[in-house]
Amino acid sequence: MLIRLCLTLFFLGCSIAETPAPVPEDELVGIVGGQSAPQGKWPWQVSLRIYSYYRTSWVHICGGSIIHPQWVLTAAHCIHERDADPSTLRIHAGDVYLYGGKELLKVRRVIIHPDFVHAGLGSDVALLQLTESVQSLANAVPVKLSSGSLQVTQNDVCWVTGWGTVSMFRLLPPPYRLREVQVKIVDNELCEKLYHNASRHYYHGQRLILSDMLCAGSEGRDSCYGDSGGPLVCSVEGSWTLVGVVSWGYGCALKDIPGVYARVQSFLPWINRQLRRFS
Ligand code: ARG
Repeated sequence: MLIRLCLTLFFLGCSIAETPAPVPEDELVGIVGGQSAPQGKWPWQVSLRIYSYYRTSWVHICGGSIIHPQWVLTAAHCIHERDADPSTLRIHAGDVYLYGGKELLKVRRVIIHPDFVHAGLGSDVALLQLTESVQSLANAVPVKLSSGSLQVTQNDVCWVTGWGTVSMFRLLPPPYRLREVQVKIVDNELCEKLYHNASRHYYHGQRLILSDMLCAGSEGRDSCYGDSGGPLVCSVEGSWTLVGVVSWGYGCALKDIPGVYARVQSFLPWINRQLRRFS
């Protein structure tokens, strides 16, 4: 999951990416390049936890989004096994501080997209059904899902949020407050070219950015390790709409290497089917 995939992608990125221009130290205050998020601004953001016997507590591994009072959308690569046991997961919702003592929510069901193999091959989405609805929780509100026809472009106002690392080499420091950064959408064709350049055309003829992926971010502004599964939202007709799920990237926030997201729009029929089937 997080460690395995990110390290692979990271080292791959390091070995094949063009030498990036250095990002000024003082910009590395975000998710990468962002700022602390106000309480209640992104009420669908959750943290996915697994139990650490080493730390004897439930530790953050990934982000996620509440998309319905009883459902969370996250990245499939965040969940190790195909039939992940729901009792090994917990959800933290309704607080920008990660370890502020909020009661964790239990998971009833884990549904990994059936086509998922690894993030680089797309279908990087999974649904978690909670044992209880978040309706009574303050600051925990579902986000709108992108509509079937939504086309986001670089002109849209989009933000990504998470508790991930604030640079490729720096963890989010205590008190572990949620971070936000505004990012620009990068068109899939351009993103494809950028990734081919970054990999020095090693993947000749092979598509890297598939149609169920979406790119966003620029030098110094990106999601990073530990943000996976979390939301990329864009303002559509005045309301925040879930457009992407943090999935992968070569390094983070490097010049001409955007972050790659699962394109929520591509998964709407699948998501709706699962919700209908199990709600
Ligand atoms: N794979 C990472 C995770 O599991 C997310 C990396 C996102 N990378 C990026 N450059 N946006 O947390």
